[in-house]
Amino acid sequence: MYYSEDLVEDIRMKNDIVSVISSYVKLQKKGSSYFGLCPFHNEKSPSFSVSGQKQMYYCFGCGEGGNVITFIMKYENYTFAEALKYLADRVGVDLPEMEYSKEAKAQAELKTQMLSINNEAGKYYHYLLKNEKGTGAYKYLTERELYDETIKKFGLGYSGKYSGALYSYLKKKGYRDDVLKETGLFTFEEKGVKDKFWNRVMFPIMDVNNRVIGFGGRVMGDAKPKYLNSPETKLFDKSRNLYGLNYARVSRKSNILLCEGYMDVIALHQAGFNNAVAALGTSFTSGHASLLKRYTDEVVLTFDSDEAGVKAALRAIPILKSIGISVKVIDMMPYKDPDDFIKALGSLAFQKRIDTAQNSFLYEIAAIEKNYDRNDPEEKTEFYNIVTNKLLEFTDELERINYVEAVSNEFSIPMDLLKTAVSKKALYYSGRPKEEAPRTRERMNQYKAKDDGIKQSQMILLTWLIDEPKLYHMIKDYISPSDFIESIYHKVASLLFEQLEHGEVNPAKIINGFQQEEEHKEVASLFNSPLNENLSVGDKEKVLNDTIKNIKKNKLDYLSRTTTDINQLQNIINEQADLQKMHIKLI
Ligand code: CTP
Ligand code: MN
Repeated sequence: MYYSEDLVEDIRMKNDIVSVISSYVKLQKKGSSYFGLCPFHNEKSPSFSVSGQKQMYYCFGCGEGGNVITFIMKYENYTFAEALKYLADRVGVDLPEMEYSKEAKAQAELKTQMLSINNEAGKYYHYLLKNEKGTGAYKYLTERELYDETIKKFGLGYSGKYSGALYSYLKKKGYRDDVLKETGLFTFEEKGVKDKFWNRVMFPIMDVNNRVIGFGGRVMGDAKPKYLNSPETKLFDKSRNLYGLNYARVSRKSNILLCEGYMDVIALHQAGFNNAVAALGTSFTSGHASLLKRYTDEVVLTFDSDEAGVKAALRAIPILKSIGISVKVIDMMPYKDPDDFIKALGSLAFQKRIDTAQNSFLYEIAAIEKNYDRNDPEEKTEFYNIVTNKLLEFTDELERINYVEAVSNEFSIPMDLLKTAVSKKALYYSGRPKEEAPRTRERMNQYKAKDDGIKQSQMILLTWLIDEPKLYHMIKDYISPSDFIESIYHKVASLLFEQLEHGEVNPAKIINGFQQEEEHKEVASLFNSPLNENLSVGDKEKVLNDTIKNIKKNKLDYLSRTTTDINQLQNIINEQADLQKMHIKLI
């Protein structure tokens, strides 16, 4: 599918990374780089760096990194081609028609057709709803107090009484069976093709770019199943889409309301809460959480008040918190869900519930408390112990003390008792680092030290070469790209050595040579390995020699393990001996 290298590079160069990222992340200049809070993981002090010189970003906390194209892919959840299009538009470059490989072309074409089918189906369902055939369905929706405006905004519809109608409608429009099958809207059986949805109220599911990627359909009575949903398809990844997010992402509210159902989202939007979303027909996943993290730092849970809803909330809280989203929980009692609540008490009352939503930690404790009878000394002890342990989740002492106070007040546990128990345990655990502890640059370096030392040497050398290109001419007779064994390191080294040979250093361009987000990340890490900048010349010379020897030795060891040629083996042994004597002088 590739655009020419020159074109990709042209677009990349025209989009200065500092100015692009500045519109997403608040950056501050520090030395030759800019730093800010990483948008890809939770942190309190900035370890996300953007270098104008390298035209790359790298997070010393979580290891995310790449060039400006990677950033847009990652942040906007775009493919390489979509990110390129976005950046081209940003600087007014026209992209030519893509030169697809045959297979990629077929895939892209399939997706386009599927989107077009979904779009047609949505229009068809909506048309039926407004038509006399849809009178019953329309009545159902108005009885559920939806306004016409709302029905239109969410593109609601009705799938007719007879299964097969949509199929023949789309066939007449010329869509092929193999494509129709991929959309999950039909069941292909020997007897013939049926529509998956019939006689249901239809909810089109849109992605953040307002494209219809699937449907949910509700029966109008009490039949089962109440809701039927499109299966996962090439367009519809359930763990990466949230119903209503296309509207919520531009709501300009400080938080996002997360609820359970279609009707909840719709009722909330109609009542003015245009920041409501739902995970549909599937439980909440970390994929959903990272999607939300792009748009907000606070999620307010408005799950159903029944047992299943409480369970879902207790599941979602740690997922959201682990990615740095703070969570609150709304008390919907005595109503089942936001839809019922708003119908009964209106939006002002709901706003009040948002304002008084409970801190998720206290909510978790309240849920635990329900399982213990505090009149029984044994159960009471167990409850206190669990609370104590749970308070240790807070690694920050001040925060922990504040929570001890809050828990003590809220759950009537004697303050002194809880304080003592918690500080004793905290002391006991203090020697053992918890994984929750913030990852500072120092800690990252420790992790890396545990990494395979060979990889580390290769990373150091590559980073060093882009920071100090003049070293290249001192070392090029001693080491070559073929000494880098792993394929990604080898490819990066080849590209970099070629650039250095021509006196050009452009690491961000090297990243263009890779298509996958994961590869971008890995390449970025090769160019951002932590270097000690305060070495004396002598130490530097030693480190450089050790690094190169380490890489070469690894290559020779590898060859000696794999070769079957006795002459080659002899050469390897000679080279190993030479390597002992090798010494590169820096001055
Ligand atoms: N759901 C589903 N399949 C079902 C039941 C529910 O996919 N058989 C999903 C739907 O997305 C639904 C959500 O779970 O919106 C919540 O289900 P539920 O609480 O049962 O329904 P409500 O949202 O209250 O729907 P309604 O108000 O229409 O009864
Ligand atoms: Mn409901």
